Amino acid sequence: MNRRQFVVIGSAGAASLFVSKNAAAFAHTATDNPISNPALDRLPLLFGVDYYPDQTPEKLWEEDAAAMAAAGVTNVRIAEFAWALMEPEEGHFDFRWLERAVGILHAHGIAVILGTPSAAPPPWLTQKYPEVLMVNDHGMTLSPGARRFTCPTNATYRRLSVAVATQMAQHFASTPGVIGWQIDNEFTLGDSARCYCRYCREGFEGWLRAKYTSFDAINQAWGTVFWSNTYTDFSQIPVPLPSGAPPNPGLALDYNRYQSDANASFLQDQLTVLRKLCPSHFVTTNNVGGLIDHLNLRDLYRNLDFVASDNYPGFFAIYEADASPTPPPEALAATVAFSHDFMRSAKDGEPFLIMEEQTGKSGQPYFSPQPHPGQLRLWSYQAVAHGAMGINYFRWDTADFGAEEYWHGLLRHDRSRSPGFDEVQQTIRELKSLGPEALHARYNADLALCFDVDSWWALNIQPGQPHLKYPTEMLTWYGVMGASHAGIDLVDATSDLSRYKVLCAPVMYIVTAQQADRIRAFVKGGGTFIAGFRLGVKDEHSRIVDTPLPGLLRDVMGAELLDYQPIYTEKQSVQFSGELTGPDADCRIWADILTPRGADVLATYTGGDHSGKAAITVNHYGQGKAIYIGAHLEAPDLARVLLTLMAMSGVTPLKLPTGVEWTTRTAGGRSWTYLLNHTSTAQSAEISGNYRDAFDSSALTSPVSLEPYGVRVLVSAG
Ligand code: GLA
Ligand code: ZN
Repeated sequence: MNRRQFVVIGSAGAASLFVSKNAAAFAHTATDNPISNPALDRLPLLFGVDYYPDQTPEKLWEEDAAAMAAAGVTNVRIAEFAWALMEPEEGHFDFRWLERAVGILHAHGIAVILGTPSAAPPPWLTQKYPEVLMVNDHGMTLSPGARRFTCPTNATYRRLSVAVATQMAQHFASTPGVIGWQIDNEFTLGDSARCYCRYCREGFEGWLRAKYTSFDAINQAWGTVFWSNTYTDFSQIPVPLPSGAPPNPGLALDYNRYQSDANASFLQDQLTVLRKLCPSHFVTTNNVGGLIDHLNLRDLYRNLDFVASDNYPGFFAIYEADASPTPPPEALAATVAFSHDFMRSAKDGEPFLIMEEQTGKSGQPYFSPQPHPGQLRLWSYQAVAHGAMGINYFRWDTADFGAEEYWHGLLRHDRSRSPGFDEVQQTIRELKSLGPEALHARYNADLALCFDVDSWWALNIQPGQPHLKYPTEMLTWYGVMGASHAGIDLVDATSDLSRYKVLCAPVMYIVTAQQADRIRAFVKGGGTFIAGFRLGVKDEHSRIVDTPLPGLLRDVMGAELLDYQPIYTEKQSVQFSGELTGPDADCRIWADILTPRGADVLATYTGGDHSGKAAITVNHYGQGKAIYIGAHLEAPDLARVLLTLMAMSGVTPLKLPTGVEWTTRTAGGRSWTYLLNHTSTAQSAEISGNYRDAFDSSALTSPVSLEPYGVRVLVSAG
């Protein structure tokens, strides 16, 4: 899945966000879970730009630095695509130009984040070492010329990537102005998600030897006796390239895991060097937030100081044109909110940095329209409202050569100020004035959405129904949960869940014993667990469990599956009862047919072979409850069902106009509430409680007015 596919799915799935019209305001439970990451405490305020002195005539650097400083810029990110200039030939490094650039920036009080350049090697390297080129999932070797075309396993490429990073680190470890590093650039954004070359096959074999004691353990785990694939030696195990029929699910899943680990260890090679040579500098890497399944981002960010995310909301406009009906503005807001919550959750809710934020028309080969006045400010606030601690705007100027000539920056091609310049300058000034406590505050989330890359990969390999897509289900549930404005963390259910009121788990295809234990404890302790269809079908080897479904969670759900059914043309409906009484709903795409084993029935199927059978059950378990939504429901019906179930668990949606978003962050007994108007019309929001305006400290009374694309920041004690 790449950026375009995520956008298309996003706009479809999230349209249900902000649709709730009911109930009174509710107070967030301010989380008593302060952020503790010493790396963050050392950080200066980070509101800057992505700058390319490697692409800018040197005579303009002074002028640029002066103009940036005047605009309130605190830092720049540079050099992530400058390998050819830093190492014109193998082993010959020249950092004199970069040193001059850093010096000029520092002289204007602008700090520097240096990028290591392994996302795009110079031509001499691929000419001399063609074996570093990636082989895609059709067995085709990628060509050099663009970027992200190299193999994550190849030892030569790793050696050369570490060498240039080492030289940079040795050169800039104590250079005034240099404060941190970005390793590589967007590991998740290559057109080819994974490499299938011979070095990766060998790497995979080593990875399998480490994970499994013997190839017989693999034969068992994957069930290789099927189609006569029993291995008698590790060297026989292939990478999942086209092979006449679909791959063994166990092999395909483990290969995705291997590729994710290979990228994480590629990054670790450089991180080890930077930690050793630049102990006072922070280190991160940037990725586009959101549902791109190339890597397990939790693994990639584990040893880094914080997550860095790239955010281009306007990019959606390019693909919304194809979506029918055209998604409402709140769908865009929801999809972007999801990507922020996704990135924040990659490092357990700690504040993250936006390393690239849209500044104007964006895209290649097609580009999005100029954002409306106010939207760049709104999108910046949305990132902070979801946990960002700083923002770098992409990019200072606009390139007048190369593949991204239409990815517009703060300066136009003629270097005059672009339409968004003043707005971004104002936004930087405002956000800086919020101060580090607000910018590092914890994001408040009463809800958790179970997001696990293993289930996503396994469902991708065997969806069962062509329209059953993990990202679509995720975004639809996220969209509905978001209508409560109760805050959502994305969790993989292996961590402590006790701080959440409700845990939702759509298409939780793989359930491990550890996850089942965490969920069982959560429900026993009083939590509400709401699962969707295809729950717990697979074990961690992507084998189907050999017990009645939902496997490990049968006890918690108090129900078993009589059968499961992909739906194509045959109409299937659902009739609700009890707390869910309401209009019947269509059930398309998928139906899990349930048999209660202690649970109560909240809905049954009508029509078809399973008429009268349970579609939704609720099981009271310990002090909590577990709900199984076996039927695939359209977004509006799912919204009614989920919001009703969440209200039964003490999460009652806020009464806000459609298109208005509310989030809160808390630190040191204070809370910052962000009210964001994603629509082009003025709105007003009811508030209850004592709030002051974050900027002029005036006391706020209800309702609070919001201009088109307007933002308000409300401060309250505790
Ligand atoms: C990404 C990359 C940048 C640049 C921008 C604009 O997010 O990290 O190098 O390509 O998008 O496309
Ligand atoms: Zn490879």
